[in-house]
Amino acid sequence: MPSPAAVRRFQRRLLGWYARHGRDLPWRRTRVPYRVLVSEIMLQQTQVDRVIPKYREFLRRYPTLRALAAAEVEQVRALWYPLGYNVRPVRLHAIARETMARYRGRLPDSADALRALPGIGRYTAGAVLSFAFGRDVAVLDTNVRRVLTRVFLGPRRTARLRGERRLWDLAETLVPAGRAYDFNQALMDFGATWCTPRRPRCPACPMRGFCATYPAA
Ligand code: ADE
Repeated sequence: MPSPAAVRRFQRRLLGWYARHGRDLPWRRTRVPYRVLVSEIMLQQTQVDRVIPKYREFLRRYPTLRALAAAEVEQVRALWYPLGYNVRPVRLHAIARETMARYRGRLPDSADALRALPGIGRYTAGAVLSFAFGRDVAVLDTNVRRVLTRVFLGPRRTARLRGERRLWDLAETLVPAGRAYDFNQALMDFGATWCTPRRPRCPACPMRGFCATYPAA
């Protein structure tokens, strides 16, 4: 694990980067758990540009979890269809029904309860907890994995060292107290727009001085 000083440096640089380069995305203008959940499930397999109009359309049609639970699953599927991976709307609909039945329509604010809902894994639970409930928990998706592996583990680490457990532990260690919202959103933007898979923007990167992969990425 990185030293406390290295952790603070990364947090500071990332939040500074985000203040300048973070994207203004529609799901960053809400803290409503249902809306956060819809956005994160859409974003799991689909690019931001394609999600934005569908996110808006979906919430116009199903503005609340209650409205979604009352809908027919086939209708939900039809609306979602162009995004692909169409098990996602079925699961989202099942989450809405189960949340109505078990929690009177309020998404639970604990990791265990969220993860007991259909199709919610550690990533989605972390996103809902940090983005909707302000909890200091980590998120780890493809973009975040790439950033953390590059910056902290370097290019020649073995598969074992890149393991899921280790990356989750690292991600949890990095979350700054009270700033999980911005920090997690920042990590996602940084991975999506700066520390990209093929052509990372290393010359302009605030992590360059201590990145374990630079200049080899
Ligand atoms: N990908 C997954 N979640 C995201 C979010 N909240 N913002 C941007 N990209 C994302």
